[in-house]
Amino acid sequence: MTVLKLYTYPEPVLKKKAEKVKKVDDDIRHLLDDMLETMYADAGVGLAAPQVGVSKRIVVIDVEQEGDEESGEVVKGKPLFLVNPEIVWRSDEMVCGEEGCLSVPKQRAEVERHAQVRVHYTDYNGQEQEILGDGLLAVCLQHELDHLDGILYIDRISRLKRQMIIKKLQKQRNEE
Ligand code: NI
Repeated sequence: MTVLKLYTYPEPVLKKKAEKVKKVDDDIRHLLDDMLETMYADAGVGLAAPQVGVSKRIVVIDVEQEGDEESGEVVKGKPLFLVNPEIVWRSDEMVCGEEGCLSVPKQRAEVERHAQVRVHYTDYNGQEQEILGDGLLAVCLQHELDHLDGILYIDRISRLKRQMIIKKLQKQRNEE
């Protein structure tokens, strides 16, 4: 498995609507494995294919991973592989929580999301599945599925906050 290059704001691939996957074959499974490895390498809870420069409707999530205190390495929890995921139900109840994104490095902001969502998707083996997300999983599903439509969490906050984050990103880059 390979750790892939991460694409960060303002790479154009992050703003594109990603394409549907026709079939879950070995190439797609290979990409899913590499995406999971890349997500763990950066201690993210979710990763969408556009974030590794691939404009396809693919997401990996693991909200149950833990850091090993001694080695600092990630201990896998329950990885989810979602191909062509689609939100089929959203709760009326909303929640507000801090989010970050591997494509917007070292920044965080409060984002409003639905408290629960039901998502239909195709899994690693090409089987149709449905999952009801609650808590962190619900937020993560909405955040990652947004990536497939070219939406970043900073598109869901106030213009003022967004501009502050973009400024900080530019400053970070100039210092690197
Ligand atoms: Ni993200």
